[in-house]
Amino acid sequence: MNAWSDWQNNFDLAQAALVWQVEMGVDEAICDAPQNRYEAAERPARKPAATPAPAPSAPEDPVAAAQAAADAAPDLKALQDALATFPHCELRMGARNLVFCDGQAGARVMIVGEAPGREEDRQGRPFVGEAGQLLDRMFEAISMRRDASDPARALYITNILPWRPPQNRDPSPEERAMMRPFVLRHIALAQPDIVVLMGRISASTLLDTSEGITRIRGQWREVMGRPALPMLHPAYLLRNPAAKREAWADLLELQARLREMT
Ligand code: URA
Repeated sequence: MNAWSDWQNNFDLAQAALVWQVEMGVDEAICDAPQNRYEAAERPARKPAATPAPAPSAPEDPVAAAQAAADAAPDLKALQDALATFPHCELRMGARNLVFCDGQAGARVMIVGEAPGREEDRQGRPFVGEAGQLLDRMFEAISMRRDASDPARALYITNILPWRPPQNRDPSPEERAMMRPFVLRHIALAQPDIVVLMGRISASTLLDTSEGITRIRGQWREVMGRPALPMLHPAYLLRNPAAKREAWADLLELQARLREMT
């Protein structure tokens, strides 16, 4: 074997491994920047630390820390910054972007969804994938848009979680409890007339209920002293198109309540 055939051999092996991963469904690299694993292997072993590590202090309660950080935010920008630097939620490590909001702050309607998916993580904006496109069409049917300049026609959109969970898994109870103070503060600062709880995770987190979304959808509740309407999530509607009839009834209910409140 000469150097050229060695190189060719390594190249073929690396290419075969890559093709195999693509066939298995791998579609993104985990790290932002490539890492040279050979370099890591050659690094000398670490010397023991000269001074002993300080004794570990009592771990901070993540929900209490979230509450304190959220309460301290005087405006939406400060709240976004507080989330960006919040150290307790590990989802941030695997996410490309913090997905904070989209639409018009000051809109009469604020939509709270579940968590970013792949496209939202890529773009840093909520509800921009397939479910988001359906959400836009649903609200356009009652003349409401995220890019409307008139607050009466505008939407403001966020999620319970600002970071994408791996493989789009459901947010854990701990993650939801940790992000809840931030979402409640978000609602208090955005001051919408009505909050739409989009889907089961949003409704159960903000209403603190175990009632199923198909049972409570379309029933007026309250969040932060504001009327809140649980609705079926557009991702659910994509899987169950027959349920669009209920979603349409809920949109009309929302429109009627907005008119009553003017
Ligand atoms: N589903 C959600 O609940 N939120 C998003 O941002 C995207 C999909």
